[in-house]
Amino acid sequence: MPDILVLGATGYTGRLITRYLRTHPSRSMFSFSIGGRSKPKLLAVLSELHPDSGGDVEVVEVDVTDDASVERAVRAFKVVINAVGPFWTYGTGVVRACAKNGTHHVDITAETAWVKLIIEQFDALARTTGSLIVPSCGLDSVPSDMAVHLSSQTLKAHFGLDTTLGASSTCSMINGGMSGGTLASLLTAMENVPRESVHGALWNPYELSPLKGLTKLSSPLRLHYRLPSIPGSPVQHGAFFPLAPHNAAIVHRTWGILQRQTSPSSLPSSSSYGPEFSYDEFCAASGWLSGSLFSLAMKVTLICLLYFPPARWWLRRVGPAVGSGPSEEALEQGSMEIVNVTSTAPSSSEPQAHVKTVIRGRGDPGYLLTSIMVSECALCLLDTSNPNLPEMARRGGVLTPMTAFGDVLVERLRKNERFEIESAVVRMSGQGVDGKKTR
Ligand SMILES: NC(=O)c1ccc[n+]([C@@H]2O[C@H](COP(=O)([O-])OP(=O)(O)OC[C@H]3O[C@@H](n4cnc5c(N)ncnc54)[C@H](OP(=O)(O)O)[C@@H]3O)[C@@H](O)[C@H]2O)c1
Repeated sequence: MPDILVLGATGYTGRLITRYLRTHPSRSMFSFSIGGRSKPKLLAVLSELHPDSGGDVEVVEVDVTDDASVERAVRAFKVVINAVGPFWTYGTGVVRACAKNGTHHVDITAETAWVKLIIEQFDALARTTGSLIVPSCGLDSVPSDMAVHLSSQTLKAHFGLDTTLGASSTCSMINGGMSGGTLASLLTAMENVPRESVHGALWNPYELSPLKGLTKLSSPLRLHYRLPSIPGSPVQHGAFFPLAPHNAAIVHRTWGILQRQTSPSSLPSSSSYGPEFSYDEFCAASGWLSGSLFSLAMKVTLICLLYFPPARWWLRRVGPAVGSGPSEEALEQGSMEIVNVTSTAPSSSEPQAHVKTVIRGRGDPGYLLTSIMVSECALCLLDTSNPNLPEMARRGGVLTPMTAFGDVLVERLRKNERFEIESAVVRMSGQGVDGKKTR
């Protein structure tokens, strides 16, 4: 059986995924095909990438709006990488076919309402066929999910496996562009998704979680954000980050899935975060005032786009066209730095401990780094008997990057020269800070 099918390979992100897989250092260890609705366009993608050689990548004609063609295509593969968006419009049939046929599915959606829909419709089916459905394997939401996972691992490595987490915050510095496909997905969410689902996606951090915990509902009126202060480090102010609600929903789903496995009478498991976990995410700002003004601007823009159709019309006219995205030069110039600070749960007998996890990426995070992250997620799934994969990866269902891939993905990204990952305990003490690198 061939290994990977890249759907949407003729699109902006799909072409980057195809290029990454084609030149992957372990290329000889896996086979892959590219899929799309136009064979000539697929062949053109291959010849643009490698004009001299062609034979090692097959092309598969598939229209995702035609259920029979999707089913024929996906059942022949172990893993589908889906880059056909907007997912609200095009994604459901592909997930249905994968869940039904036991094919694994990873994608790059950031559409919370669609992820909720596929959990409701296909989680149970996927668990019966062993199909792993893992949405949001790109910039949304691998770095956020992975940063919290690493912070948890570092705390547990220092203070014992039964250590539980308290407050966790992630501050992102994202330097990158936007594709026409991303804009189309944003506008689809504003126009076609029921308002109730849009509100849930924006303000309810537990929208995708099987359980509810201590994180408060997000407030449309909140303007100021900041990382918890660590003695010895300057205060990091923040602002509302449009990608944060989806990332927070994925992180809380990871928390909820892990927490659901822990029975109330048992000790916390080595992977669960614990009942007192709460999570917050934002983007970096240089100060309190600039952060508040940026949040205000972002929230006003969001409200205009949601309730004022001419604003969407205008954005469609001035934004990037479908199929286009940042130039090659801009792809190289982009970067990301994700900083997570997580504390242990408050306790009357132990002082709270803190961990700082940093994930840095070189290249446009939304596209160049996304193509790497989603490809490495797919490669994790080629051997689901790997004992280092989380137990849940052997059962199937709609999971999150960390509940499906855990440390196997961390190690894959650590080996990639574009990523740098570190996680260190920062202990508060009378003398100041005692920081120690652990990973
Ligand atoms: N979360 C993240 O981190 C992240 C990062 C990047 C992108 N994204 C998301 O990924 C999606 C794609 O973005 P993009 O910029 O790559 O979009 P794009 O350039 O517009 O590509 C869309 C792809 O979907 C294909 N497609 C459309 N309708 C189809 C159908 N009926 N059957 C088969 N294929 C069909 C297109 O094929 P044709 O060439 O034939 O039109 C094209 O290959 C968007 O939803 C975007 O938001 C998310």
